[in-house]
Amino acid sequence: MCGIVGFTGRENALPILIKGLYSLEYRGYDSAGIAAFTKDGLRVVKTRGRIANLEEKIREEGDLYCNCGIGHTRWATHGEPSDRNSHPHLGGRDGKGKVAVVHNGIIENYKELRERLEAHGYVFQSETDTETVAHLVDYLHTGKQEDLAKTVLAAVQRIRGSYALGVVSMDNPEEIVAARRDNPLIIGVGEGENMIASDITAIIGRTRNYIILDDNEVAIVRPDSVVVMNEFGDVVEKNVQTVNWDMSAAEKGGYEHFMIKEIMEQPKAVADTVKPRIQNNAVVFEDNGLTDERLRDIENIHIVGCGSALHAGMVGKRVIEAMCRIRCTAEVASEFRYENPIIGKKDLCIVISQSGETADTLAAMRLAKQAGAFTVAIVNVVSSTIAREADGVLYTWAGPEISVATTKAYSAQLSALYLISVKIARTRGLISIGDERALCAELQRLPSCIEKALMCQEDMQRIATLYANRPSVFFLGRGLDYAAALEASLKLKEISYIHSEAYAAGELKHGTISLIEEGTLVVALATQPALFEKTVSNIREVVSRGAVVVLVTTDDFTGDESVCQHIIRLPKCLYEFSASLSIIPMQLLAYYVAVERNCDVDKPRNLAKSVTVE
Ligand code: G6P
Repeated sequence: MCGIVGFTGRENALPILIKGLYSLEYRGYDSAGIAAFTKDGLRVVKTRGRIANLEEKIREEGDLYCNCGIGHTRWATHGEPSDRNSHPHLGGRDGKGKVAVVHNGIIENYKELRERLEAHGYVFQSETDTETVAHLVDYLHTGKQEDLAKTVLAAVQRIRGSYALGVVSMDNPEEIVAARRDNPLIIGVGEGENMIASDITAIIGRTRNYIILDDNEVAIVRPDSVVVMNEFGDVVEKNVQTVNWDMSAAEKGGYEHFMIKEIMEQPKAVADTVKPRIQNNAVVFEDNGLTDERLRDIENIHIVGCGSALHAGMVGKRVIEAMCRIRCTAEVASEFRYENPIIGKKDLCIVISQSGETADTLAAMRLAKQAGAFTVAIVNVVSSTIAREADGVLYTWAGPEISVATTKAYSAQLSALYLISVKIARTRGLISIGDERALCAELQRLPSCIEKALMCQEDMQRIATLYANRPSVFFLGRGLDYAAALEASLKLKEISYIHSEAYAAGELKHGTISLIEEGTLVVALATQPALFEKTVSNIREVVSRGAVVVLVTTDDFTGDESVCQHIIRLPKCLYEFSASLSIIPMQLLAYYVAVERNCDVDKPRNLAKSVTVE
């Protein structure tokens, strides 16, 4: 949610900032801007719309050569997407501004700060909460000897809410001051140059070494030095970490969109997540804290997440309950955190997040931790906040996921949940060594099953062409197929803007069936042999009201095919893992429908990949 980049060094910063912004655009794309120290002083160029619009505006304004600058790509919270609400914001009474600020997060007490600053003669140019920070820094800085970092430290102590900040001041045109609380910010460490960024993709073109800024820290970033202070102003030693993947992982590699590339990468994402955790036909967890003793003692399991991560959790809940017979809930993190959940000290809380930064998921995890539960995070982004704060981490090794609509991270999350489930079931004696061996073999076979499932690509493209103009689509399923249907529906609506709903197949008749009319597209998922007949009966109910049906099922489907117009047969796998296969044609359907409708597949309107506000 909002992307921040900054560069200070000897080269022209402008192309580096623009490139960084492009790689962060998935975080928000309502507007973009940069502040640069040019020979004419501090200049700001910003505009509504995408980075391409910003580039255009920079070309029009001419000569922005600079060695130090900050940039921002915005997902609007306070104030509509517009030129004046775009970041950077300038701080200063005269309207010219000597301080420029980029911000990710929400300043909760902005109204009160704004009123007080207005009383001191500051005139606000925008409706944003961020502008209060710019003026506040200017106010605290003006006429004082204190350096910018100390001023930023004093400013953030007056702020309630969350922030990642990049601040520059005309007093020191080589310096960027960075600060964070509850929003990610890293410092890219180079040779004679350093950067700040919301995530690694923005620095990896220049350096592989980075420092993670922790909550309440402030950093002074200059070409030859990085100094980090804690909230008391004491200098703290930070670890320099190294990125372990290369640039090509964050590039399209010949595909038209990141989404289709990432769909195709799913066999690898699942294999990389599963492989290191299976040794000698048994699930082995090394350092995620899920010890046998702990697993034996678990009383309840709470799974929390948002969006697709929650949908993965809903599959996980069903698999865990079936395999381990432990009560397990899967809840929306933003609800869980405010509903005073009943959490016991012997409970396990599984937190799922691709980014590891989702504000509600993080808050839910902190709540569970505080209540005494053991928290284990299934996270894709290494060293993200959730990964660092959880008691234990189970990384999904899906690699960088750029498309806003998740695919490979979701699949990797499912496989991490299967691993946990098998491990718990074995530890508690619910399955034998032989069962565990068989389950591990099935898990290892999953990537090749996904590979086979991906062979329906052409069929899904054809089906997408036929139905891309439908105003609404219904997805039906029972049990695991229902959980998969929820994700299928989310995929379609988020990228194609077609209204869609997922229903438990038996529930549709309790009201929603009134929406089925001649030609309504219904996609039915039926991968559980025991429920084939039940789902077919539900399909008949919609067919007799005029629906057109796509049935997604397995190779061994024995039901009556005549109920549907199209049938997609998936390779057979253990039924507990079937959601990993049924989602494949659904992702492809969403993708090709969105392409057919000329939608911006990788950057759907109004969305952002990493949601760091509540
Ligand atoms: C956003 C994204 C979704 C994602 C959700 C949770 O809403 O658009 O695709 O599923 O956040 O993100 P997380 O990083 O926590 O998995």
